[in-house]
Amino acid sequence: MKLFSSVNDVTDIQKLVSEAISLKKKPFVNEQLGKHKTLGLIFLNPSLRTRLSTQKAALNLGMQVMVMNLDKEGWALETQDGIIMNGTTVEHIREAAGVMGEYCDIIGFRSFPGLVNRDEDYSEDIFNKFVKYCGVPVVSLESATRHPLQSLADLITIEELKKTEKPKVVLTWAPHVKPLPQAVANSFAEWMNKADYDFVITHPEGYDLAPEFVGQAMVTTNQDEALAGADFVYVKNWSSYNDYGKILTDGEGWMMTNEKLKLTNNAGVMHCLPVRRGLELSHEILDGPNSLVLNQANNRVWAAQAVLKNILESLS
Ligand code: CP
Repeated sequence: MKLFSSVNDVTDIQKLVSEAISLKKKPFVNEQLGKHKTLGLIFLNPSLRTRLSTQKAALNLGMQVMVMNLDKEGWALETQDGIIMNGTTVEHIREAAGVMGEYCDIIGFRSFPGLVNRDEDYSEDIFNKFVKYCGVPVVSLESATRHPLQSLADLITIEELKKTEKPKVVLTWAPHVKPLPQAVANSFAEWMNKADYDFVITHPEGYDLAPEFVGQAMVTTNQDEALAGADFVYVKNWSSYNDYGKILTDGEGWMMTNEKLKLTNNAGVMHCLPVRRGLELSHEILDGPNSLVLNQANNRVWAAQAVLKNILESLS
């Protein structure tokens, strides 16, 4: 593997999940594999889980890790081609990425969408330029449209805890006060479709995800109907894709509660975190036995370790 930016970069997702679960049992079995190899973790946006879990995964593989919050610690980055840089930007992504590629064997890169220009965001212009100009294998730490390490961790969590071969998995929109990217929801949908579960997406009117991510999922604006008999409920806010980047409703009545949980098959409740308590997800669920949020966060390590292991094995 030379690139991990979406589920489409994985040839066998069940094999990758199995590898991650094996690494969870024996974290240091490949500690020689990454010896004298350097991972760079480059962030244009904040992070807790992605930063720490990917760093831990690399250390388990014997790698050295460098972390840079490029948006705060680097020179102001120019990403447009062909312009005269006589404004506020100081360094072009062509040189910045190229330089980082000189120092690192593998690079993880996080770049959120602007949520202003949909075509620009969905072209993954910044992420793709970084991949092109750094010249080394790249792992997405969340791009404008996808968060594949999170989705792999989510799939591992479901595979570990499912009680039937084909569980019912529901992705439900949740309220939020800020317009958030569609990346986590897009990516989760993409991976659930590949996993071939009984997959349902529910959201208020106007919050349809892009068709290429919805895939074969059943979609409904009736949350109660969606939750009926669910084995897993994935809670996430996203801003509108069609009315791009906008908040269309305060989402009253959409927060998951213990009352709604009664509609499900005693579902495990998932969220990628960070979560706004009492707004996106109720305190009672987060503090109760059905919450899987810490299982997911734990599995971020093994997801990252399985991906880095595959990339290290592909280095000459
Ligand atoms: N879930 C997730 O990616 O968390 P961070 O944004 O804190 O890395």
